[in-house]
Amino acid sequence: MFVNRDKLIHLLQPNHYFNSEFFELEKEKLFKPAWHFVAVLDEIPNHGDYLTKTVCDVPLLIRNHEGEPRVYLNVCGHRHSRITCEKKGNCPVIRCQYHGWEFKENGNTGRIPDANCFRPFDRENTRLKCFPAVLCGRLIFTALSDETPDFDEFMGGRKAVLEEWFDGSEYHFGSRTDYDVEANWKVPVENTLESYHVDHLHAKTIGKHPEEKNQEHDFGQNFSSLYTSEPPTLVRNFQDGLMKCLGVKDITHKYTHHLIYPNIMIIGLDPMTMIQTYVPVSPTSFRWEGIVFVRSATHWTRKWFEAISSPIIKLGAKSVVEEDVPIYSEVQAGLQSSCHPGVVGTIEERIYAFQEYILHECEGREMQGSQKWKSKALISPSVTES
Ligand code: FES
Ligand SMILES: [Fe+2]
Repeated sequence: MFVNRDKLIHLLQPNHYFNSEFFELEKEKLFKPAWHFVAVLDEIPNHGDYLTKTVCDVPLLIRNHEGEPRVYLNVCGHRHSRITCEKKGNCPVIRCQYHGWEFKENGNTGRIPDANCFRPFDRENTRLKCFPAVLCGRLIFTALSDETPDFDEFMGGRKAVLEEWFDGSEYHFGSRTDYDVEANWKVPVENTLESYHVDHLHAKTIGKHPEEKNQEHDFGQNFSSLYTSEPPTLVRNFQDGLMKCLGVKDITHKYTHHLIYPNIMIIGLDPMTMIQTYVPVSPTSFRWEGIVFVRSATHWTRKWFEAISSPIIKLGAKSVVEEDVPIYSEVQAGLQSSCHPGVVGTIEERIYAFQEYILHECEGREMQGSQKWKSKALISPSVTES
């Protein structure tokens, strides 16, 4: 059941979705102090494997060092070149692409061509800047600010879920899909916070969203969650068939969705788990990054079916996502010309809570409602089985 019986106010105004000053405020207040999901260890499985990406204007080099993830600023201490411009690759030694300076795993400089020219050497100011790297399950997280809270504190109760869903055993790494989208990062977040759009936008892939009696919302200081035990019929039948062939006996029919504020979304279903992030690029653009983990077979005799089910599950997830992604730029275009304040229905109450969080963090506004909802909401993850 939902907490609210009456419609809610759309707290954010259209200009919160394209104003550049507000965007800078969000970067400062929401993203700088956050932990960021940057990669799956399976994407850099061997020593020396690396990938690069930019998170909140910070270019990062994420590298496997003897099985452990390391995260560096992808900028050289010599004359500021990016160390590498490759998206991914393998480097037995971290070496800058410009003059060939080398760096050790701890960021200290290694071999420097014609090193004599740099005497006396300023070791401290030429180190490769290192960021913290936390491995949670197979997921790699980093923090960009010294003021970022401890990882466990930031993730709260959702850390155990991350470990369970993404440790590579029950579910294993399946695929990554990225999209560059012309929309403010909050547009996709709000899209994932309601299943109201399912009946219309996902009619061909998902079908109908579950009835309210089979859904419950849970709210906290830095997250909101949805639990439901009755996925739409089309999905349910499809899932059941796959699960049986994989040897899964405890089919739950549960769909669980957590948003860890500001922008990490995780989903769990019987056949798969997903993590998505919406990385802000500009006030009106973001990068959508989605990782799918697929259900592993329960026994080696079922492994043959895993080879069949895995691409089906990945394709199913992609089809749903590709129904959502085009609507984001449509919403953005509308926001930039809107004469309406917007309205939030009871079925969309997680959006209200998210907007309260945004205004609280960015503008210091008091949290009016959603912090009190927790006591009213049914918070047990097990809801009525249909
Ligand atoms: S800028 Fe990196 S070695 Fe010169
Ligand atoms: Fe959707």
